[in-house]
Amino acid sequence: MKLTPLIDASAIAERVAELGRTITHDYLGQELVIVPVLKGSYVFAADLARHIDLDISIDFLGVRSYGDERESTGVVRITHDLSHPIEGKHVILVEDIIDTGLTVAYLRQNLVTRNPASLKIASLLHKPSRTRVPVDIDYLGFTVEDVFIVGYGLDCGQRFRNLPYLAAVADAKA
Ligand code: IMP
Ligand code: MG
Repeated sequence: MKLTPLIDASAIAERVAELGRTITHDYLGQELVIVPVLKGSYVFAADLARHIDLDISIDFLGVRSYGDERESTGVVRITHDLSHPIEGKHVILVEDIIDTGLTVAYLRQNLVTRNPASLKIASLLHKPSRTRVPVDIDYLGFTVEDVFIVGYGLDCGQRFRNLPYLAAVADAKA
């Protein structure tokens, strides 16, 4: 599989630090729950959390929307739920990439029914050309073209999550 480097590790680190500073500023004096969506956002969330200078807690959501294929099925399944209630808490859902928007739209709806004090979305990447459900992204790392991206947590058929940079896959068949 041919990889073309897209965004290098230092550019990612710089942007993630900026997002962390913005979040720190926006939530000063408030309790915040960071909710990474597994697996893709685990690297982004770990780096982002270390740039948030607040009293935060972290709780994970596991979802499966694609299987090991490239195309969204539109059917989102929660494979691992939060371990604590979020009622009355300020929550930031952390995604790796928003592609069609189906996953985040579903998760937002689901989390809102649990009555958080507020709910915002952070995503490392956004592919606006693929939007099927428009999503308001409160904290966005980078906008990308319609290419399949791996690295920094993102996979293709479970591979390449450990790359320290973001790359485009030429032939992304899993
Ligand atoms: P959506 O529901 O179409 O927005 O897809 C969201 C999920 O699909 C993301 O959280 C990723 O796990 C996966 N995904 C979408 N595009 C890519 C990509 O370019 N590379 C790796 N995973 C992707
Ligand atoms: Mg994902």
